[in-house]
Amino acid sequence: MTQDEMKKAVAEAALQYVVPGEIIGVGTGSTANFFIDALASIKGQIKGAVASSEATAERLRGHGIEVMDLNSVNSMSIYVDGADESNNQLHLIKGGGGALTREKIVAAVADKFICIADESKLVGVMGEFPLPVEVIPMAQSYVAREIIKQIGGQPILREGFTTDNGNIILDIKNLQITEPAKTEQILNNIVGVVTNGLFALRPADTLLLGTPNGVRTVNPA
Ligand code: 5RP
Repeated sequence: MTQDEMKKAVAEAALQYVVPGEIIGVGTGSTANFFIDALASIKGQIKGAVASSEATAERLRGHGIEVMDLNSVNSMSIYVDGADESNNQLHLIKGGGGALTREKIVAAVADKFICIADESKLVGVMGEFPLPVEVIPMAQSYVAREIIKQIGGQPILREGFTTDNGNIILDIKNLQITEPAKTEQILNNIVGVVTNGLFALRPADTLLLGTPNGVRTVNPA
């Protein structure tokens, strides 16, 4: 099974969590794209979707799925999205595609966060994947200095990239994230940081993991 086949399998497996008549939160990235394509097959059963990025909104609309403004939505049963890394407590690193802020907002509204990923994303200690941090442009240097002082690692500017919110991304390399919730809070408290890509304070509720032997459901350890 290729990595793409595993991503497609988990995306299709996530359809079982879709509650008919509801609004679905939809993530960003290649695995989320497989989910959007699968969602199109049952689009008549849902009320609409909230997108975590402009790219996702465009793909949803391309399938004829109504994209709703989050401010017009009071509740959402599920949010489905990929991840760059997950540990066995379903703390995640997200933001490889740069959509971390909107992803975190939509995940916060949803009752249940279903994470979909191929098996390469499940790790023991997070941090091999550089941790994305969305930063207000004028704060770039200050935030980079504070990151090094407070948690270590090497913050690197993601060259030529602007988020959907008009900000920059610093990717922190060489971190070993042994206390994800603490690291998430420290980064949140640096002035100029919009969001960081750790999803530990609000982890996933279920991880659907694509393996060569099929889809494995992982619940938090
Ligand atoms: C985008 C994300 C993605 O979920 C993450 O990068 C995983 O992407 P992919 O499914 O392409 O491996 O957080 O900001």
